[in-house]
Amino acid sequence: MFQNVDRLRPDPILGLMAQFRADPSPQKVDLGVGVYRDLSGHTPVLESVRRAERAVLAGQTTKSYVAAAGREEYNAAVEMLVLGEAHPARSAGRTRTAQTPGGCGALRVGAELIRAAAPGTTVHVSDPTWGNHPPLLGNSGLKLERYPYYDAGAHQLRFAAMLDHLERAPAGDVVLIHASCHNPSGADLSPDQWRTLTELLGRRNLVPFLDLAYQGFGVDLMEDVQGLRLMTEALPEALIAVSHSKNLGLYRERTGAIITISESESRADAVQSHVLQIARSIYSMPPDHGAAIAACLFADASLRAQWICELAAMRDRIREMRALLASHLRQITGGAAFDFIEAQRGMFSLLGVSSETVDALRTRHHIYMTSDSRMNLAGIMPHNAAYVAAAIAAQR
Ligand code: LMR
Repeated sequence: MFQNVDRLRPDPILGLMAQFRADPSPQKVDLGVGVYRDLSGHTPVLESVRRAERAVLAGQTTKSYVAAAGREEYNAAVEMLVLGEAHPARSAGRTRTAQTPGGCGALRVGAELIRAAAPGTTVHVSDPTWGNHPPLLGNSGLKLERYPYYDAGAHQLRFAAMLDHLERAPAGDVVLIHASCHNPSGADLSPDQWRTLTELLGRRNLVPFLDLAYQGFGVDLMEDVQGLRLMTEALPEALIAVSHSKNLGLYRERTGAIITISESESRADAVQSHVLQIARSIYSMPPDHGAAIAACLFADASLRAQWICELAAMRDRIREMRALLASHLRQITGGAAFDFIEAQRGMFSLLGVSSETVDALRTRHHIYMTSDSRMNLAGIMPHNAAYVAAAIAAQR
């Protein structure tokens, strides 16, 4: 049976992780996979998460199944965090949430839901987008198209071209939108641009699928969902993929959720019945551990307050490293060509160089980034910022 199976190339991001681990150079710098790193290069377990985990373990009496939708109290807390107390769709009973295996699970369940509801739908994804979006969504059988989003050479959004593309999309199509901290560009829409986009989606009858993987890494927990809230308050339907890999540091626990918004309460029930059937047919039930920790943390005022401080510290460190790298580059090059790194948000920016230059940075300088020249700025430290800046400047 396996005679005709050829070996595939490794996943670009996971393959880069393995390459970095195998590099014996003491100078090596990991700007690859999107995980937060502290000043010692470690991806820590947050103290608030550790405390919540202890409480979960102390109180746990069974490992029996939970449900296809996962933990109810987690789902309720996620809705509050993402949509807020006063969201009209929540008040009208039009939202449903199901816990999923990470944000990836939410994206795939969402794609399967779209296919079940309207198999001919095209999903429009940003160009560029996260490398795993196309397989996660496209392998469900849906057609994908790319809308222009960001010019990596000019370090600018292509908002007019984005609108132009979406104006021509057929009614009913789905638009995947990064809710904040765009991966890989770090370039987010302004409040005005969110308003314009919302108007277009409403007028053209397009459905947003919002990917929220970095809530709290841009400005703060509230600000990072302002665009998402504005859009979902105005439109009758939406899907939201939520991840707690980054903001709770629960990466390997695969903790996330899919929120659906439907035009009526009864339709929301029908949609949720499909979500649950899809979940059951792919993985039956989501893993509980991360969601149990998150639910415990969200429900406890002191854990929550500590988490908000820890999240701010992660965000501030990345911001400081953005500023430090940009300032070294300013000094070396004598110009402002790299100031965009300081201005952008979240973990990533695109350096805007060719894949050959990315290869040269890796082979000559042991600096690792994905071939599209995406840098995870959490990999920059006070001790390596000047080194990275010099290497980047040397490759210009
Ligand atoms: C990334 O973008 O590097 C992260 O989200 C990790 C992953 O799974 O690709």
